[in-house]
Amino acid sequence: MAAACTYPFLLSLIFAFFVLNSASSEADILLTFKASIEDSSNYLSSWSNASASSYCNWTGIACISTPSRFVTNINLQSLNLSGEISPSICQLSYLTHLNLADNLFNQPIPLHLSQCSTLETLNLSNNLIWGTIPDQISQFGSLKVLDFSGNHVEGKIPESVGSLTNLQVLNLGRNLLSGIVPSVFGNFTELVVLDLSQNAFLGSELPSDIGKLEKLEQLLLQSSGFHGEIPNSFLGLRNLTILDLSQNNLSGKVPQTLGSSLEKLVSFDVSQNMLLGPFLDGICNGKGLINLSLHTNFFTGSITNSINQCINLERFQVQNNGLSGEFPNALWSLPKIKLIRAENNRFSGEIPDTVSMAAQLEQVQLDNNSFSSRIPQGLGLVKSLYRFSASLNGLYGELPPNFCDSPVMSIVNLSHNSLSGQIPELKKCRKLVSLSLADNSLAGEIPPSLADLPVLTYLDLSGNSLTGPIPQELQNLKLALFNVSFNKLSGRVPDSLISGLPASFLEGNPGLCGPGLPHSCSDGQPTHHTLGLTALTCALISVAFGLGILILAAGFFVYHRRSKQKCQMGSWRLVFFYPLRVTEHDLVMGMNEKSAVGSGGAFGRVHILGLPSGELVAVKKLVNYGSHSSKSLKAEIKTLAKIRHRNIVKILGFCHSDDSIFLIYEFLQKGSLGDLIHRPDFELQWGVRLRIAIGVAQGLAYLQKDYVPHLLHRNVKSNNILLDEDFEPKLTDFALDRILGEAAFQSTMASESVLSCYNAPEYGYCKKASEQMDVYSFGVVLLELVTGRQAEQAEPTESIDIVKWVRRRVNISNGASQVLDPKISESFQKEMLGALEIALQCTSVMPEKRPSMFEVVRALQSLPSTGFSVSIQFQSEH
Ligand SMILES: *[C@@H]1O[C@H](CO)[C@@H](O)[C@H](O)[C@H]1NC(C)=O
Ligand SMILES: *[C@@H]1O[C@H](CO)[C@@H](O)[C@H](O)[C@H]1NC(C)=O
Ligand SMILES: *[C@@H]1O[C@H](CO)[C@@H](O)[C@H](O)[C@H]1NC(C)=O
Ligand SMILES: *[C@@H]1O[C@H](CO)[C@@H](O)[C@H](O)[C@H]1NC(C)=O
Ligand SMILES: *[C@@H]1O[C@H](CO)[C@@H](O)[C@H](O)[C@H]1NC(C)=O
Ligand SMILES: *[C@@H]1O[C@H](CO)[C@@H](O)[C@H](O)[C@H]1NC(C)=O
Ligand SMILES: *[C@@H]1O[C@H](CO)[C@@H](O)[C@H](O)[C@H]1NC(C)=O
Ligand SMILES: *[C@@H]1O[C@H](CO)[C@@H](O)[C@H](O)[C@H]1NC(C)=O
Ligand SMILES: *[C@@H]1O[C@H](CO)[C@@H](O)[C@H](O)[C@H]1NC(C)=O
Ligand SMILES: *[C@@H]1O[C@H](CO)[C@@H](O)[C@H](O)[C@H]1NC(C)=O
Repeated sequence: MAAACTYPFLLSLIFAFFVLNSASSEADILLTFKASIEDSSNYLSSWSNASASSYCNWTGIACISTPSRFVTNINLQSLNLSGEISPSICQLSYLTHLNLADNLFNQPIPLHLSQCSTLETLNLSNNLIWGTIPDQISQFGSLKVLDFSGNHVEGKIPESVGSLTNLQVLNLGRNLLSGIVPSVFGNFTELVVLDLSQNAFLGSELPSDIGKLEKLEQLLLQSSGFHGEIPNSFLGLRNLTILDLSQNNLSGKVPQTLGSSLEKLVSFDVSQNMLLGPFLDGICNGKGLINLSLHTNFFTGSITNSINQCINLERFQVQNNGLSGEFPNALWSLPKIKLIRAENNRFSGEIPDTVSMAAQLEQVQLDNNSFSSRIPQGLGLVKSLYRFSASLNGLYGELPPNFCDSPVMSIVNLSHNSLSGQIPELKKCRKLVSLSLADNSLAGEIPPSLADLPVLTYLDLSGNSLTGPIPQELQNLKLALFNVSFNKLSGRVPDSLISGLPASFLEGNPGLCGPGLPHSCSDGQPTHHTLGLTALTCALISVAFGLGILILAAGFFVYHRRSKQKCQMGSWRLVFFYPLRVTEHDLVMGMNEKSAVGSGGAFGRVHILGLPSGELVAVKKLVNYGSHSSKSLKAEIKTLAKIRHRNIVKILGFCHSDDSIFLIYEFLQKGSLGDLIHRPDFELQWGVRLRIAIGVAQGLAYLQKDYVPHLLHRNVKSNNILLDEDFEPKLTDFALDRILGEAAFQSTMASESVLSCYNAPEYGYCKKASEQMDVYSFGVVLLELVTGRQAEQAEPTESIDIVKWVRRRVNISNGASQVLDPKISESFQKEMLGALEIALQCTSVMPEKRPSMFEVVRALQSLPSTGFSVSIQFQSEH
């Protein structure tokens, strides 16, 4: 106790000392602060004695001008700073905001900053702060925003945090806090954001006094070991917009005293516990939730129709609990609902026709419940729906003919239900990738029109009562999975389906015949009556394709001439990030046919130029769509040029005119991985291939997570992986979207690669690029390394991409070892199978099933030592 009292006393003495000496100017205070900081990357070079008079213009500094130029804000985030955070800064008598986030400060919580009496915001997120939160944290009583997230702070949250009564934001997420969360929140009357998420060692009930925080808008407590029930008091959280309690050990029971709100509930099934019902009722009275995430807990009970008050709800996630009762019909007609996830519960009830009113609905997952209803016509009217899965339920009746009419519908899984009737003609499902109707009671014939769905890749019709032949037209599809086992099909199986698919996908149809099947076909069996039609279609496609090329060529010619003219007018501007001795003129003149290498991707050709100094550089020529002003173009490219990673190609500078942008990259000896794989004598050791894979994965992980701003590559393919003389891989052509602008980037990608097999299946329908898309493309590269095949390769009979090629084979028992590159010794088989497994996970159709790049790095790195035991089963899709 005595120590706790003397400490503040000592501090105030020190403080008084500083104040008395505060004759020093603001600039001197800042320079003293800088002196204890290690600025290895020299980002604070503007902070110098020489420019002391203009300290308000120093990096990260903002001042007020009245009464005088006093420093109010210091924002030094993401500058790779380390060293000591010195309390000298507290002599700035107007300092209000201090942001040191995303640096490398490696020390305990800098308690001495509590001397900064005017400080309102302290942001130390994403550093290496360690140790416990001391009781003296209470000295930060004036703070409004305290952010320690993403550090290594451990131990209990002390009761003394309760004195921080001015807090509006408290973020202690992503640390190593443990123990019980004290009940001190009643004091936080101003709190708007509370984040204690991802503290895996907390073992606590939810403090009930959180419910007193009337202003609270965001409550983020996910993945933090909370157990017990949601306290009744949470009904008081009327301003909540985001509630995330997912991935804890929470459970639900009937609250003992529900007071008057219980009256509302009598009409519902009182045999079930009611916790979630009135709970949601309460919190949607005010502003209304936007994101509600309760998934992966042990909640039981039901959710009542009072959810209809949550008119702002967009994301509803209650999957993986033990919830039961009627699924609330009201949810389906909430005006803003986008995501409904309720799989793996025991809900009953129906999918009502009013689902057609959910105009924003994108994704529905209801698998493994007890829904029993028809599939409503209304479903086909929701224009934004791209995923609907309701497998393992009791859905019955016929499939409405419009069930996949949404123009973006991509994944439908209705397997393990009781659907009957025929499979309707599906004409509109232009984006359908995966259709599973397995284990129902569907009858009739397989409609040949399925073959007209341009991107259908996974088709599972097994376990029904389908009759008639397998339509010949299905050969036109690039099916990776086609399962019709255990039906009543008959007739000749189309040749390419027999040769390309495992026999198990045809079994259980005694009437089917063909080579390799139990029955060979007698002559009377119907033959390929549609062959003529197929040939005609092919011919038409070729003509259309030819025309397309002509148009492209004409366009290129026109463009080419225009840019030539511009060149001569000499309006080029050159910017270097490295000392290069070359002029605009040298560059522009050097970009000729002779210096060009490769055919160039959609974005433009690469030229290799020798500089007067003898150095070689690679120059990529892009079209300048004018998406940026000259200044912001420079800023964007500078962002990319600042990246320093051994697996990412350096940008040395650029040169641009109104028409073109030349990006100057470092030159790498060995060319691209794509060129190498393309060669008939491609023969890299397994060890080298694995090193390439790990390097590429590390480069991507760095771009996505470590580099600030986080970047997506968006064009990962083996042609964009360059190799240095030691075969160290380096990614190039990254984040071109930032240079070209999103619209131009997308249309350029589309012009070449709608069908590029490096693109994830969701590429067509997801508006936003995602990390998972990069992961998919990486998986394709990994498949190339494991199999030694090019991603896109024309087979003698068919052109098929590598993902499908591999998937088809690993479905067969022992098929996995057959896809491995035969040029590599069998002694590496275990490791290669491990890498294959990772590649298959990366190329999963479902984005959320793909691992993160960090997980991929770790998995690849652990391959040689562990040996990995693999069991590959495509259907479970990992
Ligand atoms: C960050 O600083 C460390 C040393 O503290 C240095 O090795 C590293 O290169 C720096 N990174 C950047 C991006 O400046
Ligand atoms: C800045 O320069 C003054 C004299 O010009 C000197 O007294 C002072 O120590 C210098 N400050 C720093 C931090 O170098
Ligand atoms: C700070 O920068 C602004 C604009 O960049 C300029 O107008 C001002 O003169 C600078 N102040 C000092 C003291 O250099
Ligand atoms: C702290 O800084 C980080 C990095 O700029 C930012 O993402 C975060 O939102 C800030 N925290 C608060 C509470 O403003
Ligand atoms: C609430 O704050 C007051 C003064 O700020 C303090 O004395 C009290 O201990 C705090 N209550 C809790 C529960 O922390
Ligand atoms: C809830 O939020 C609204 C608007 O953001 C605000 O006006 C209101 O005061 C808040 N309610 C409470 C109890 O703080
Ligand atoms: C949930 O509780 C179980 C034991 O009941 C424990 O093993 C597990 O770690 C807990 N999970 C979390 C997220 O706390
Ligand atoms: C809700 O969650 C989604 C996905 O996590 C996120 O993009 C969105 O910003 C969240 N909404 C709000 C209001 O934070
Ligand atoms: C279905 O959900 C239950 C929990 O309600 C779970 O125990 C079971 O494993 C799930 N079944 C499948 C096939 O996922
Ligand atoms: C469809 O659902 C079943 C049962 O939940 C599951 O086993 C299967 O993997 C799913 N198929 C696809 C393609 O998602």
